[in-house]
Amino acid sequence: MSFDLIVKGGRTVLNKHTVFCDIFVKNGKIALIKKPSKTTNTSSRIIDARGLLVLPGIIDAHAHFHLRLGPGRYTADDFTTGSAAAACGGITTFIDYTGQGPGKSLIKGLKDRVKEAAGHTYTDFSFHCMLTGWEKLEKPARQMAEIIKAGVPTFKMFTAYGARGLMASDAALFSALKAAGKLGALICVHAENGHIIDLLTERYAGHKGISALPLSHPASTETEAVYRVSALAASSGAPVYFVHLSAGGSANIVRTARTLGFKVMGETCPQYLALNHLRFKGKDGHLYSCCPPLRTRADNAALWRAAAAGELQVIATDNCTFTRAQKNAWGGDIRKLPMGLPGAQTLLATAYTLGVKAGHIKIERLVEMLCENPARIMGLYPRKGVIKLGADADFAIIDPQASRKVDWRTMSHNTDYSPWQGMKLYGFPKYTILRGEVIAQDGKLTNPKNPIGQFQRRTKPEIL
Ligand code: URP
Ligand code: ZN
Ligand code: ZN
Repeated sequence: MSFDLIVKGGRTVLNKHTVFCDIFVKNGKIALIKKPSKTTNTSSRIIDARGLLVLPGIIDAHAHFHLRLGPGRYTADDFTTGSAAAACGGITTFIDYTGQGPGKSLIKGLKDRVKEAAGHTYTDFSFHCMLTGWEKLEKPARQMAEIIKAGVPTFKMFTAYGARGLMASDAALFSALKAAGKLGALICVHAENGHIIDLLTERYAGHKGISALPLSHPASTETEAVYRVSALAASSGAPVYFVHLSAGGSANIVRTARTLGFKVMGETCPQYLALNHLRFKGKDGHLYSCCPPLRTRADNAALWRAAAAGELQVIATDNCTFTRAQKNAWGGDIRKLPMGLPGAQTLLATAYTLGVKAGHIKIERLVEMLCENPARIMGLYPRKGVIKLGADADFAIIDPQASRKVDWRTMSHNTDYSPWQGMKLYGFPKYTILRGEVIAQDGKLTNPKNPIGQFQRRTKPEIL
């Protein structure tokens, strides 16, 4: 039999174990997996993966590309540069967010975003549906059903940022959770106590510089919201997924809720696992602004422990890229400071180096958090997130011995700094393969003129 691609002899994370095998690809799918042998099968391309580590393609469950900030103003990475960075970093599918706004239906929000991305991405993609202004939405449950039918079973809500029209009341959250529970959908929540953050922001912004960010967003504002929304989810009977958890206390609440049998899941990000508030010191401190903010080394350690123990389920980027010029326009006032960090190109390398190589987490567990769990929770499994017969032939193949110093100048993000600048990282992929096509090799796109990413319809989320 002839194949389109054979990945030969790599150490492969398969079935939660690491084994040596040959992987045969036909028509973009994994057609055969067997022990390494002197193969007699033919293929138009053979990748010699001996000495390399073969992982499923990474799924970034939380990305923002071409995020609209205001009239004519967007984040720095559009779908082209963002997905290029993602591909060069080992990501084969990202899930971004729809845009919504007063009077815009959920389905229009989804269609508009799919149109913006289609034909411009090097990786596959999907969107979570933003669910803001619940009280003013016309027949919200019916609109949610329409979105689910269109292949989007996950919705995003906020417990903060009322001034930007994002904050949901407890009643809205409860009603949305109830509707989602009935529809088999999943509500994803950005959990921070917006009332307290607004109060503290008014107290500290304007005269405390970047230190106003951690002062106005203490860890307790996140942990309280995680506790409250977990309780709302439990009362509604529906599952909930917390995005970008930053505090050890929040991970403890997630663990406790899960121990009590509540359907609560949590995501964290490399910046919360490995960077801390000391980054705010110095003249570039404001470049590290994100919400929730970077916390302490104790929080880093607590999050790694929760990740390794299976108490948190997903590591994602929350990629939200700004240039120095965009950040520098803040004028010392955090109310004017754009929040978010680039992270797509460094997701795998930071998690591999600072997690696996540093001894915090086993490679098999990391692969669950970067691949299988986001695929299962976000409704992409078993097509994505796993090396298995019939799955899409999506791989991130790394040379575990090869390291590189992070330098934003060599990366595909459309920005002029990296929060990881100068760090020696392992785990940048030698090859990123999407549906059998090598889309990036050694940190460069293989075919920049051919963005082959496709919108992925997703099915019912699994509760892990
Ligand atoms: O600071 C961040 N995380 N910006 C991105 C938007 C969000 O809240 O996820
Ligand atoms: Zn958020
Ligand atoms: Zn986000």
